[in-house]
Amino acid sequence: MRDEIKRSSVPFREPSSILHSRSSILDLRLSFRLHPSSFPRVPLAVPYWSGATYRGILRSVLTGRVVTGPDLNQIQSLVIETLGVEEAVLCGSGSLALEIALRACGVGQGDEVVIPTFCCTAVVPPVLAVGAVPVFADVGAELNITVETVDAALTKKTKAVIVPHLFGNPADIGAIIDLARGKNIRVIDDAAQALGATIDGQPVGSFGDAGILSFGSEKVCAGLGGGVVVFRDKEILKRGVNIERPRALLFSMLWRRWTLPLLSRLNAAGPGEPPAPYRKETMANLNAAVALSLMQTLRKNVAVRRERVAAYRELLRTEERLTLMPHQRGSACLTQVVRVLPKRRGEDSASEIIEVLGNARYEIQGSYVPIHLIPPHQKWVRDTLSQAESVWEDLIELPCEPDVSFDHVERIASIVKRVVNS
Ligand SMILES: Cc1ncc(COP(=O)(O)O)c(C=O)c1O
Repeated sequence: MRDEIKRSSVPFREPSSILHSRSSILDLRLSFRLHPSSFPRVPLAVPYWSGATYRGILRSVLTGRVVTGPDLNQIQSLVIETLGVEEAVLCGSGSLALEIALRACGVGQGDEVVIPTFCCTAVVPPVLAVGAVPVFADVGAELNITVETVDAALTKKTKAVIVPHLFGNPADIGAIIDLARGKNIRVIDDAAQALGATIDGQPVGSFGDAGILSFGSEKVCAGLGGGVVVFRDKEILKRGVNIERPRALLFSMLWRRWTLPLLSRLNAAGPGEPPAPYRKETMANLNAAVALSLMQTLRKNVAVRRERVAAYRELLRTEERLTLMPHQRGSACLTQVVRVLPKRRGEDSASEIIEVLGNARYEIQGSYVPIHLIPPHQKWVRDTLSQAESVWEDLIELPCEPDVSFDHVERIASIVKRVVNS
């Protein structure tokens, strides 16, 4: 298994707090100082920050409104308006947003929650946090869960289905909602990777009983971290078992010094349980200021990503050993996933491409390891999930960030072509 080069199995690649972001910036600086020639020309997932982002950070720091402040209300209103929902609850991460959504949907001890096996592992801890059991569903040809794969995973205990739209590409959530209707199963629209995507003009995140967004790393709007739970119907929120707002994010070291040991003791996991991987905190005003600036450039961000996807398709369309995973019309085009068919059995062409691109200083990654194949998650496996198992090793993700110029897109495509034809 090529876990070293694959994401998703590596939780530390999912930093959602400012402290994590800071430490990765330090790591980057360190690696630059130590190996300037190996510093990537195009690093992975460059956030789309503008002058307004830096002005937002300065404003919030200089006015001392880091923890609470006016940006929180503004981002909340903007999310409500953009998604056309009734209510939005801000929190510290997309993971916590999922937990709040599950609680509001009445999911609890012993219930089953269907999640895709081919996904970021971040979807698992929120399910465990509410005492529920994750049930893995296979994915379809487009790498999202489908009505068929969800149907195959349903049991009498199923209480909710989490529907992520991977790589910005909308899943067929309408069909999954139809399937769940009448069965007392809630559908959570996980738009963590697909902010800005639409289905027939309706924003992704606004389908289902609750939806979530993320401003974490490697997202369309990658900020300093933060998540939002949205509800089309405020009533769901009222029905929530425990919808108390999580404690405020506390930047003061003094405060952390006294509260963190206490909170971690309160949150301590029992024997054999994985530790809580995300903090139960609200969004900080600083994070909201960054998220606000990113929401304001969302349209342009997505439009530019779509152009990169179109360019890859044009440049690579004649290659027989490459399948470019489709993006639906309304996709937010987070990345372009490519399946590389090996020339011979046992050959790992995808890794070879990643390595050659890495040598050319393009930081490209493989895609997810199916969650049910990762040891701590194997205890919940019920079936072989053949589509995810058969494709994952052949996948690479090409960058579509606005920061990646067309010259870079052309170079990346020509390197990919050279390797597959060598
Ligand atoms: C589909 C999906 N849902 C939820 C999350 C959790 O978001 P966060 O990183 O903000 O906790 C992620 C994170 O990558 C994700 O990819």
